Amino acid sequence: MNLIKKMLAAHAAVLALWAVSAQAATDDAVAERIKPVGEVCVQGQECKGVGAVAAAAGGGARTPDDIIAKHCGACHTAGVLGAPKIGDTAAWKERADHQGGLDGILAKAITGINSMPPKGTCADCTDDELKATIKKMSGL
Ligand code: HEC
Repeated sequence: MNLIKKMLAAHAAVLALWAVSAQAATDDAVAERIKPVGEVCVQGQECKGVGAVAAAAGGGARTPDDIIAKHCGACHTAGVLGAPKIGDTAAWKERADHQGGLDGILAKAITGINSMPPKGTCADCTDDELKATIKKMSGL
């Protein structure tokens, strides 16, 4: 092989390598760019993207703060109608002590008691959600 041929061959090899790596980089970049759109959620499988969107839109998981803001706070913030105030742990504790603990006042919150409406007007709240909300309001 003469020198020119050698140089050409080396050149071709470098070119080929360059072409392969350039293509790979491009594929990665494209995959990255189309990822959010290309991610498909299949029914029955976990789909984090959709869950996050649903939560942000108000569906899905509610936090105790959400429930307080929407339901309980109306009475429990200012202590309307004699409702124990949010953060007044002593008042909540006294009730809990008389009702058999947190689960006791949870039961009353579910059925309603005097001016306290059943489930505190959060009709679709689960028992667990109510319990977490009561914990948050009472500090118990
Ligand atoms: C319309 C006003 C009102 C709303 C809304 C309300 N409460 Fe109450 N709540 C009261 C009043 C009044 C009492 C005190 C009742 C009594 O002992 O006479 C009370 C008491 C309670 C108690 C103590 C029960 C006991 O056994 O002493 C719990 C627990 C409670 N509320 C939870 C909640 C939760 C959780 C929410 C929201 C999901 C909520 N409340 C929304 C008015 C309200």
